[in-house]
Amino acid sequence: MQPAIHVKNLTKKYGETLAVDGIDLTIAPGQIYGLLGPNGAGKTTTLRCICTLTQPDGGSIQVSGETEARAIRQCLGYVAQEVALDKVLTGRELLQLQAALYHLPRQSIVDRIAAVLELLQLNEYADKLTGTYSGGLKKRLDLAAGLLHQPEVLVLDEPTVGLDIQTRLAIWEFLRKLRASGVTILLTSHYLEEIDALADRVAIIDKGKVIAEGTPSELKSKVGGDRITIRIAEFAERQSAEQALNLLTGLPFVRSGLINAAQGNAINLTISPDPDASSAIQSKLSESDVSIFSLSQSRPSLDDVFLSATGQTIQDVEIAQAEVMPTKKRR
Ligand SMILES: Nc1ncnc2c1ncn2[C@@H]1O[C@H](COP(=O)(O)OP(=O)(O)OP(=O)(O)O)[C@@H](O)[C@H]1O
Ligand SMILES: [Mg+2]
Repeated sequence: MQPAIHVKNLTKKYGETLAVDGIDLTIAPGQIYGLLGPNGAGKTTTLRCICTLTQPDGGSIQVSGETEARAIRQCLGYVAQEVALDKVLTGRELLQLQAALYHLPRQSIVDRIAAVLELLQLNEYADKLTGTYSGGLKKRLDLAAGLLHQPEVLVLDEPTVGLDIQTRLAIWEFLRKLRASGVTILLTSHYLEEIDALADRVAIIDKGKVIAEGTPSELKSKVGGDRITIRIAEFAERQSAEQALNLLTGLPFVRSGLINAAQGNAINLTISPDPDASSAIQSKLSESDVSIFSLSQSRPSLDDVFLSATGQTIQDVEIAQAEVMPTKKRR
């Protein structure tokens, strides 16, 4: 079966920044495919290259078998990260403008606009100025515009960022229905739970590279076992944390461990499932007079996949970046 999207060795540089560093993606038709990664990982640049809005420096891109920019644009719809609506237009006028940009046949424009307004339940807002829309309404109008020319592939950059939980859930539901109707969806998100809940497959991206790829459950089961995070103090001395880690790595159920500097030198352990793990850890540490400030145990998440590949969580990377670049927006 021909992939809906096939990307091979994609690279893009901005000056000295290698925003995309040899990304390969193969996305089967009818899937929801997620790109997950911290700020600046290269998600938007990858999407913009696929949508032919940014010229890559290297690599190849096919969308529904098409390689020419014009043909690719015909078969995909793109909904950008930032909603930039013209506030002095109504929703319907904006869709009319979009229809003209897509060169939709004149006779089908009215019908297509009616269809997408219905699909996104926007009828009662269609003739109001978009300047009066809430964030959720704007995003729905953006989705309507992306679907106007009935694309086989819909590309969404952070479709629910900044929206309240109700609106996010409504958009998830909508995207699942769209998938059921045969549309392939490629989306990016910072929200681990969004990718986990929606995506059939996921590529985890860091510094312009795919560091892990698979179904969310495959990726989580590769991390294996449970995650235990132990703090011996709110901000522990590195040396003390290392001594404690050395003690703990001797326990039979501990598979691997690392010190997470960004979490105040917390000790992150990956363990084989063991009901007595936390009591065994406590007694091991008490033997050498190390007191536990906090201990938590959880099933692996997609963040643990990121952590085991990079030694940091997605949140750690974003916090570190925000400290280097205080003006960079955070979510
Ligand atoms: N137009 C541009 N000019 C210069 N540098 C850019 C440009 N666009 C992106 N970059 C840089 O390329 C890298 C990747 O950025 P990109 O926007 O693709 O990341 P992202 O994963 O989408 O991040 P975010 O989660 O913040 O949206 C970053 O270092 C960014 O600063
Ligand atoms: Mg982005």
